Amino acid sequence: MDKLKVLFSQEQIMHRIEEIAEDINKYIGNDEVVVIANLKGAIIFYADLLRKLSSTKIRMDFIETQSYIDNKSSGRVKITRDLSENIEGKKIVIIEDILDTGLTFEHILNHIKYFHQPSDIKICVLLNKTANRQADLTADWVGFDIPDHYVVGYGLDDNQYLRNLPYIGYFN
Ligand code: IMP
Ligand code: MG
Repeated sequence: MDKLKVLFSQEQIMHRIEEIAEDINKYIGNDEVVVIANLKGAIIFYADLLRKLSSTKIRMDFIETQSYIDNKSSGRVKITRDLSENIEGKKIVIIEDILDTGLTFEHILNHIKYFHQPSDIKICVLLNKTANRQADLTADWVGFDIPDHYVVGYGLDDNQYLRNLPYIGYFN
């Protein structure tokens, strides 16, 4: 295995999450909001971020998509698990691990708008890789902009492995 280098430490990630949470708390105010994680990659970020949100009217939900085969974009996105909460007419915040081509998120947005009809959608991504963007979308909150490296850890996988690393790394 090639050597893994640290891109963002656990401390750097937690610090940034606190800053983002402050902004999201302002957006949420006292409204009822459903915060949605795109599984599996977003789960660690989601769990850390959610605990920094202070409203008592937050519901959790999950959507699962598959778009990657062997670390390469298959170009196709499939929803393998749909939401279970009723979000019609509600504000939602969707949490994603990384925006690369943006095709996964575009598909999620179209699906959610069409089938679930929330009143307002905000996008929060931990990592933003703009080099390969194909879809015309921008996140409302971004943890870090990163160059075109394949990154792992803190939920992000290398063929399903390494999601459990407490930091974000890349292979040199
Ligand atoms: P997109 O559809 O190209 O934007 O890709 C988004 C999905 O691809 C994310 O939800 C990730 O699961 C995965 N992905 C993209 N880049 C990386 C990476 O550098 N490391 C791990 N997963 C990645
Ligand atoms: Mg993935």
